[in-house]
Amino acid sequence: MTFQLSNQQVTSKAELYSSLAEQLRHLLAGEEDLIANAANFSSLVYHSLADVNWAGIYLYKDGELVLGPFQGKPACVRIPLGAGVCGTAAKIQQTVLVPNVHEFPGHIACDTASNSEVVVPLVRDGKLVGVLDLDSPRLNRFDEEDARGLAELVRIFMNSVQG
Ligand code: SME
Repeated sequence: MTFQLSNQQVTSKAELYSSLAEQLRHLLAGEEDLIANAANFSSLVYHSLADVNWAGIYLYKDGELVLGPFQGKPACVRIPLGAGVCGTAAKIQQTVLVPNVHEFPGHIACDTASNSEVVVPLVRDGKLVGVLDLDSPRLNRFDEEDARGLAELVRIFMNSVQG
């Protein structure tokens, strides 16, 4: 299989996320394996969004988040529910946008280059499956439009994998 990133022509964030949604659907089509699809999902996001130094998935296992497929520097492996940005988003099952991670109480610093972050929960039938985590070296990198676009990508990813 060959795969070509094709975001070079987009002029708006909405267009970018629409293009990414299309690409993700094609990328995951015909495959249901959680790890394989999480790996390709994180790679697509990491290589398509500007100013992102870490993109990946944590999976919910036995009451805590455990590191899954990602792109970026090595990261902390286990995050308790409620801890850091990831554990907070997981606990409340809502997207958490952090314009400045240094002002977020309990933020867990994995890569010292990270200055802002967004975490989108992965939820199926009301049950926590994990989270999608993106870090940026740029302050205030992620906004509500990113949150909406990423939520749609998460929906495509969750639909692709077995229950
Ligand atoms: N910063 C996250 C930890 C994970 S790393 O960013 C990859 C947090 O506070 O939960």
